[in-house]
Amino acid sequence: MDILSGYNREKSNLVSILQAFQHELGYLPEDIILRVADYLRISPATVYSVATFYPRFKFVPSGKKVICACRGTACHVRGGGRVLREIEKQLGIKAGETTPDMEYTLETVSCMGACVLAPAMMVDDEIHGQMTPAKVSEVLDGE
Ligand code: FES
Repeated sequence: MDILSGYNREKSNLVSILQAFQHELGYLPEDIILRVADYLRISPATVYSVATFYPRFKFVPSGKKVICACRGTACHVRGGGRVLREIEKQLGIKAGETTPDMEYTLETVSCMGACVLAPAMMVDDEIHGQMTPAKVSEVLDGE
């Protein structure tokens, strides 16, 4: 894995390089932050502050499946909170956590752009709409 060799040392490549590592590893470990900083001749704090600006960058490994529940208004008024609580109950973790076997990570978003399907949840990139607590196990079992 030599992602850095695909990029010149321009600071403007920072986000692209971080994206490439995120894609390859699923997250940005500390040693990668340090390597990227060294490669671009900028401080690790700069790399870290840019990386934390973008929600898509993770700093701890995620589970094999990323489950995402929507906390947006459209989903909330249609029972999204109950769906989230049911997901938490079935996975045995809270939003922001990963199961100990590294199978599932549970995240929340403020809208997934599927308000017409509210309440919605997502498994990796697949959206499941008109969710109910009863449908949660169906969706999770289908994975
Ligand atoms: S508010 Fe949930 S998808 Fe938009």
